[in-house]
Amino acid sequence: MDRWSSRLGFVLASTGSAVGLGNIWRFPSTAAENGGGAFVLLFLVVMVLVGVPALMAELALGRRTGRNAVDAFLEIRRGSGWGFVGALGVLAAFLILSYYSVIAGWVLAYCAKAARGQFAGLSAPMLASAFADFAGHPWRPLAWHAAFMLLTVGVVLGGVKRGIERWARLLMPGLVGLLLALLSRVLMLDGALAGAAWFMQPHWHQVTWQAVLRATGQVFFSLSLGMGVMITYGSYLDRAEDIPRSALYVAAADTGIALLSGTIVVSALFAFGLPVEGGAGLIFVTLPAVLGQMPLGPVLTTVFFAMVVVAALTSAVALLEVVVAFVTQRTRLTRRGATTVAACLTYALGIPSALSQGAYPIDLFGRDFLGAADHAASNLLLPLVGLLTALFVGWAWGAGAAVGELHEGSRGFRAARIWSFSIRIVLPIMVAVILLAGLLGIP
Ligand code: PHE
Repeated sequence: MDRWSSRLGFVLASTGSAVGLGNIWRFPSTAAENGGGAFVLLFLVVMVLVGVPALMAELALGRRTGRNAVDAFLEIRRGSGWGFVGALGVLAAFLILSYYSVIAGWVLAYCAKAARGQFAGLSAPMLASAFADFAGHPWRPLAWHAAFMLLTVGVVLGGVKRGIERWARLLMPGLVGLLLALLSRVLMLDGALAGAAWFMQPHWHQVTWQAVLRATGQVFFSLSLGMGVMITYGSYLDRAEDIPRSALYVAAADTGIALLSGTIVVSALFAFGLPVEGGAGLIFVTLPAVLGQMPLGPVLTTVFFAMVVVAALTSAVALLEVVVAFVTQRTRLTRRGATTVAACLTYALGIPSALSQGAYPIDLFGRDFLGAADHAASNLLLPLVGLLTALFVGWAWGAGAAVGELHEGSRGFRAARIWSFSIRIVLPIMVAVILLAGLLGIP
């Protein structure tokens, strides 16, 4: 049976799974498209009311059963249909990994380009068109996508324990340090403060149901919820670990890093006079532009993208691990076999996402393929699985039994009452209303 090698290791690995492209790439662009400060506020509210309780529930479910995302449900309610919820989660992990590794491939490519000094002296508009050229190239993104997938496979094959834990310990502090340095530089640019202010002020008329849905999807995505990751990671967890406390650490680190990169990206957009309208390429334009103006620009740009690669890698590993844990526990495939098969299938599913950025127009429901996959996974599947998981934990397993699990290893879980109330009532109602409003297209 796989186990984390230390208590700290688990917190680091979960933080590694939570902190990724969702914080650095997805949060800033989604916020920019959905009203800036209003979106940030919604994100924080949903994070506290929905995200944190759901995170504790998934971890508790995983640790209690010690099983993969599907069997965790079946272990508690044998022969029930609840395994379907877990299966939807595995499906979500599979779908998300397919395009997540495409974007991570772009980051890898940008790391290599930066190391070769290719961004030196380019203005922000030039960087914007360079990015469009790169992402629209007929085969380069596919090659980088494959390279990133190989890295992910390498880590999962080696076992998650030592590699991931050690990398996360080393690189997370480095990432935060670099982001803080970047923030202080960006805020000194002319016009940047207006961007920071826009990011902090809620404009209430921009709070629409669609924005609420996107904020909810972002919380699930960012905390790696609703796709079996936290159930799987919880299943490798020691009984002596304090789940409520760890969940708070993970959520706080995740939120902090999202806010930090959001402020940097949006302030830089204002300072360079670029339109604040989001889009997939934000971090590929603003960050090289800002970093390029700093002393040692090319070095810093390379280091920055290298850190984003690692952040994405610890997340991609978690996604692949969900599928691998399910397959190895359910079939006779070995870890090696399961990893290879899962990686090849995800790679194939990622191809249309990679090509849809300009090489070949592949559209679905009025979005490019990558955008459609991201929307379907994050704004529909994840909240749906999250809602059903909360109902399962709160009612089918029973909030009382789950609280018992949360108490174990914890130095007094004082919020037990509040947690039970949110997992049984607040979370299901909130997420159901938001999903319905979103699906019905209420603006
Ligand atoms: N939470 C990760 C991020 O914010 C993405 C992720 C999603 C990782 C799902 C694992 C599982 O980038």
